[in-house]
Amino acid sequence: MTPLFLFGTNFKMNQTPAESAAFYEQLAGSVVQPPGVRLFIIPPFTSLAAVAAVAHKEPHERDIWVGAQNVHWESAGAFTGEISATMLRALEVDLVLLGHAERRRDFHETDVDLNKKVRSVLDNELRALLAVGETAEERSFGVSAETVARQLKIGLHGVAPHELTRLQIAYEPVWSIGAGGTPARPEDVAPVAGSIRRVLHELFGEAGCQVPILYGGSVDATNAGSFTALPDIDGLFVGRAAWTVEGFIATVNAGLAGCG
Ligand code: PGA
Repeated sequence: MTPLFLFGTNFKMNQTPAESAAFYEQLAGSVVQPPGVRLFIIPPFTSLAAVAAVAHKEPHERDIWVGAQNVHWESAGAFTGEISATMLRALEVDLVLLGHAERRRDFHETDVDLNKKVRSVLDNELRALLAVGETAEERSFGVSAETVARQLKIGLHGVAPHELTRLQIAYEPVWSIGAGGTPARPEDVAPVAGSIRRVLHELFGEAGCQVPILYGGSVDATNAGSFTALPDIDGLFVGRAAWTVEGFIATVNAGLAGCG
């Protein structure tokens, strides 16, 4: 069953394996997930084996999903420095983040690349968390809706409606991400989230309405509830504010309060 509320964090290029495993252990020991809520953490590749080892053993039994930050679209071969979905599947990760704004900007990932990555993740029975969002420049020209529509139409090309139970979208306006970002307001997020929902419906019919849309970009405990109160937002994808267990819990609680 699709969870009603998803909440997770991406550690980016931070933490040793021991630090990530300790985070998982402490978080899993501190929270009881209400029915319909699904928490996840996305540590760096080098932490995945250590975190999976903790997550897959009693008493945790995968109560919090573990994700990877990227993947290559081929399953093996001459791609130095890359990691395949086959390798991630062998580690039994639960989901793979694709198309984070930092990867699109700094590593020049294109929508066509991301489409191949989405296919590889789904073909390996993993879940995909596809990040979309407009830059400040695209926003200034009034093409936020067109930008996310393009990212979705290319990124999800060839995905079948029956695969959507393993798909989540993160809407992260690029201008709102990170310490240098300008936090978005709910009134900025609502129309673009609505556009994302319309595109998912256009592409997949009714099944597209069940795909969770998470909001991300300078989310913290002070504003989380204002985003989860929006009709098209089904969860939160958080960076800095959730990099301590206390911050993670405070932000998820604020987000849940906003759901009403
Ligand atoms: P932030 O990061 O919450 O620190 O702005 C969000 C993200 O990069 O996904």
